[in-house]
Amino acid sequence: MKIYAAKDYKDMSRKAANLISAQVIMKPDAVLGLATGSTPVGAYEQLREWYEKGDLDFSRIRSVNLDEYKGLSGEHDQSYRYFMNHNLFDHVNIKKENTNVPSGLAEDAEAECARYDGVIRELGGIDLQLLGIGGNGHIGFNEPCDVFEKGTHVVTLTEETRRSNARFFSSIDEVPTHALTMGIGGIMGAKKVLLLASGEAKAKALYDSCFGPVTPGVPASILQLHNDAVIIADEAALAEIREKTGWEGDVYDN
Ligand code: PGA
Repeated sequence: MKIYAAKDYKDMSRKAANLISAQVIMKPDAVLGLATGSTPVGAYEQLREWYEKGDLDFSRIRSVNLDEYKGLSGEHDQSYRYFMNHNLFDHVNIKKENTNVPSGLAEDAEAECARYDGVIRELGGIDLQLLGIGGNGHIGFNEPCDVFEKGTHVVTLTEETRRSNARFFSSIDEVPTHALTMGIGGIMGAKKVLLLASGEAKAKALYDSCFGPVTPGVPASILQLHNDAVIIADEAALAEIREKTGWEGDVYDN
């Protein structure tokens, strides 16, 4: 695991966009694993800016997103398909047919999960998987539990996650109770993983993920076993790591 310190959210976003850009430039038909939430918004904004300048070409890029709320259509403004269109896809020359998000409306959600794993396989796996981290250490919607679930699966969202995401809905009652999420196997199968963390609400989960035991109780801790996991975190998110390890530098090779 390599941990890169960023001054603040803007610096984190720019560093992340640099890594994603490098992937797009070095492999123009790369498979990008993409994430939603507040954390990657700044990185997507930066990518759009570089695209507008003519520095990036997404015409052959393929993408697979981590997750989707069960029960929301792609047109719902809180669906992750909508988020991706709005924050990135509508603004760059990626072909929509090359973008994949699990369908929240599939009648048979289990079959949709199996289909999604098939899509990832057919694409030849993920080159770069972008991740946020939940305050409870979740990645995608892999919530803390007793086992690492391998494939794409349906999850029951924890109260903590629903409360945290309620800020995007008019009330907590409107936050879906279930989601479809890529599993830990899908994420760990990516050649490179890039986890972003910003803000003090992530400081404990980030410390536990990087320095605690590898346990499904802290899903992001599995990344300690990945060959090429990069963390970019701002100072607020790094607070507990700084305090407990005494690390003062810019790059930590864990
Ligand atoms: P956030 O969510 O980016 O909105 O903080 C991250 C996550 O829960 O994975």
